[in-house]
Amino acid sequence: MIDSMRKIKQQFSNTSVDVYLDGTFNHLSKLVDKKNAVIITDENIFSLHRSKFRNWNVITLKPGEAFKIQLTADAIIEQLIGFEADRSTTLIGVGGGVVTDLTGYVASIYMRGIRFGFVPTSLLAMVDASIGGKNGVDVGAYKNLVGSIRQPSFLLYDYSFLKTLPDIEWSNGFAEIIKHACILDHSSFKLLLNNSLQSIKKDKKLLTSIIEKNVLLKSSVVKKDEFEKGDRKLLNFGHTLGHALETQYELTHGQAVALGMVFAAWLSEQMLGLKKSVEIIQVLSQYKLPTIASFDAERVFNILTMDKKRVSDKMNFVLLEKIGKGVIHPIKLDKLEKYVSTYSNLNKVGK
Ligand SMILES: NC(=O)c1ccc[n+]([C@@H]2O[C@H](COP(=O)([O-])OP(=O)(O)OC[C@H]3O[C@@H](n4cnc5c(N)ncnc54)[C@H](O)[C@@H]3O)[C@@H](O)[C@H]2O)c1
Ligand SMILES: [Zn+2]
Repeated sequence: MIDSMRKIKQQFSNTSVDVYLDGTFNHLSKLVDKKNAVIITDENIFSLHRSKFRNWNVITLKPGEAFKIQLTADAIIEQLIGFEADRSTTLIGVGGGVVTDLTGYVASIYMRGIRFGFVPTSLLAMVDASIGGKNGVDVGAYKNLVGSIRQPSFLLYDYSFLKTLPDIEWSNGFAEIIKHACILDHSSFKLLLNNSLQSIKKDKKLLTSIIEKNVLLKSSVVKKDEFEKGDRKLLNFGHTLGHALETQYELTHGQAVALGMVFAAWLSEQMLGLKKSVEIIQVLSQYKLPTIASFDAERVFNILTMDKKRVSDKMNFVLLEKIGKGVIHPIKLDKLEKYVSTYSNLNKVGK
């Protein structure tokens, strides 16, 4: 077999991350000492890729966002004690964003911090969740309320994991890929517009290049603003209304973010004169993401104002000056309330 793996180094403020692109899971044994490492994964990934985990110490979690909580972190810590993990142990999160967020979190607090790395297995984790060092758990309805920012030592990409990824998870990943394109890169946007979920899934080379482009796009934003004082907030495009919808309705994260992006694009049209916002709707539908939301404006607005991005009577909203250029734009709450209500009525009429 030809070895196509490439290593790049991403430099953050006080640490660097080794990123192994187009690698294989087997390479993990070269990065860590098997006897002194513990893998954290979930039941879905473990049962679909069982042979890969042979001879490793493994902690297997129940899958899903509902388990991204402190109770799971405590259970992992109990098992680490069982494995006699110490300050020299490396934790490896092999999974989607739930697994990587939990692994980074536990590695940050166990014995005041031990080494960790990730093998992202979902498209979303490959292009988003495993990059940037944010980790943590949810508390009740508050997503990611508790956690820290700490970079992994390494990321190992093995694209063969994607062979078992369910369809809905492909769309979830593409929601974030489309987000990156909207706020950062017009040429990526064009590429997405000229393709579709089906065409990209069939073209391994194209898929690989999109994943790798997104690793670079997200890393570049994080490098400039690791601790989210400014530009990192751009990554919240579509997430403000998105999170409010996600807590109120039965939607996946990607679906909610897609609806949030359509709203933010409409708002950008109203406030900043964004052109061609219809292309955003077009692109989302090509990746099997929803674009029309019928929602209770008052209820959703009330949740939306509880968002972390609220600053007294204003909300920092991520808008688009043009496709490929996101900006952070403060909007007064009373004005935003009117916009949300107008938009929700438009969607009702449009149905
Ligand atoms: N830290 C960050 O910066 C950051 C950024 C974005 C998202 N996140 C977090 O990431 C999480 C969402 O990530 P996600 O969508 O990967 O969720 P996830 O980990 O729940 O994975 C989604 C589903 O896909 C399954 N799965 C994963 N890889 C698979 C594979 N190769 N084959 C078959 N099934 C597979 C999982 O078992 C799960 O059922 C959220 O908790 C979110 O808050 C974090
Ligand atoms: Zn997201």
